[in-house]
Amino acid sequence: MTPVAPLPGATFGARIDAADVADFAALPRALADAGGLLLIPGMDAIAEEPELLVRLSRVFGAEVEDYRRTLTAQNMVHATVPEIFVVSNTPPTLRMPPRRPDPPLTPDGRLPVQFPHRRGWHTDQSYRRPPPDISLFFAVVPAPTGQAQTLFADGTAAYEALPPDMKARADRLDGIHVSLSAGRGRNDLLEGKTPRALGPLEQPQRQPLVRVHPVTGKRALYMCEYGQMDWLDGPIAGMEPGVNGEGGRFLEALMRHATQPAFVYVHEWTKGDLVVWDNRCLIHAATWFDAEKVSRVMWRTTVSGNPGAIYANERKSWLP
Ligand SMILES: [Fe+2]
Repeated sequence: MTPVAPLPGATFGARIDAADVADFAALPRALADAGGLLLIPGMDAIAEEPELLVRLSRVFGAEVEDYRRTLTAQNMVHATVPEIFVVSNTPPTLRMPPRRPDPPLTPDGRLPVQFPHRRGWHTDQSYRRPPPDISLFFAVVPAPTGQAQTLFADGTAAYEALPPDMKARADRLDGIHVSLSAGRGRNDLLEGKTPRALGPLEQPQRQPLVRVHPVTGKRALYMCEYGQMDWLDGPIAGMEPGVNGEGGRFLEALMRHATQPAFVYVHEWTKGDLVVWDNRCLIHAATWFDAEKVSRVMWRTTVSGNPGAIYANERKSWLP
């Protein structure tokens, strides 16, 4: 197996063509060596046999989420393989893409990647403790080139490049994460929405702003931005909360830093691409596509089980 690294236009990630993947068991090491991002083109066999995506997911960890059991709307779940979460604008899923950035391009004509011009940066399911490790995302029917890219930012490189004072501050702090549906995001508060009462399985969860990767030992920024953080009591525990608070300003400064183009890889999808990313050290964002004209179907699985020492023996916050 000969990974080609880094990915084009980025300083991290690696590509391994499906034909070169002789031994699935070697993939987790390759993922760690690539800084948490692997592109495996040519995995069209998954479209024919969706169970293959689940078997591949198990290579990265024993716990592959079964979306029948985790309060997930069933129109988002694959009809026969409940470990596959469907991301699509087609029925029955009908999930619409994020809005286009305003303006749609940067002054030099590029796809905006940096927060706050680009919105929606997050790490998957950070509103759970322990949070998941790895996501696998497969292009069944991708959008045309130039639409629906997935953006990845390297939280390890971003952490290492922080000025010493910000690094020392981030090291000591926890973010407060919560599901988008809780109505506690920054935009929810600005729109004056009343946050709904949250049940015991959907409570906001504290996560360190800097996580130590359990495999590589490297430190990486771990955060989301306007959505998926609790802007009512946070977004940073112990700092002034709210949309104009000191915690929000610090989070925004970290997010602007971490999403500079130098830390970002932009993935243009081709049918049959499988992308594997490590949520413990990367953040990612979806981009717009023309959902009126384009039908897009993507399959995702989520792998957990190795969140690191600070989560040892913790019960799962989202299960009864
Ligand atoms: Fe995501």
